[in-house]
Amino acid sequence: MKLNRRKFIKRLVIAIASVEAFFLVRHGITKKTAVINKESLVFVGEESKFFKNNTYPFLSDQFYLKRFDDGGFMAFSVKCTHLGCVVNINTKTGGFNCPCHASRFDSYGNVLSAPAARPLDIFPIVVKGKELYVNTQKAIIRQSFDQKQITYV
Ligand code: FES
Repeated sequence: MKLNRRKFIKRLVIAIASVEAFFLVRHGITKKTAVINKESLVFVGEESKFFKNNTYPFLSDQFYLKRFDDGGFMAFSVKCTHLGCVVNINTKTGGFNCPCHASRFDSYGNVLSAPAARPLDIFPIVVKGKELYVNTQKAIIRQSFDQKQITYV
């Protein structure tokens, strides 16, 4: 009987410790995820701040925000899809040029000249009222441009 009570208490302690560990881990992960989500949405400004047919650099957050003639927006990764150099804005064409190995991209990020083999990655744009946010945690790797990739306010 004494042995059974010891076993019972031992199992009870293990069960309580397991439940506590579960909640500690779960709470810790939830808290961390919330922080990551908060950091990943970059506020870029109100829609009216951005002129049509212009590209705006957000280099510290690793993207260019482009507004097209029709008012739509796209957020392009600054990293060339060849080897990751930072591409520059081509002010004449509205596209992007890579200074490392001369890849060129059009205004939608499509490859105009190799060695890059696929379009610039893009980031989702989140619209809250008239405010624009870019989710820099979710780079979208593309094979081609699609009209659905443009965000409208
Ligand atoms: S890294 Fe851009 S062309 Fe090579």
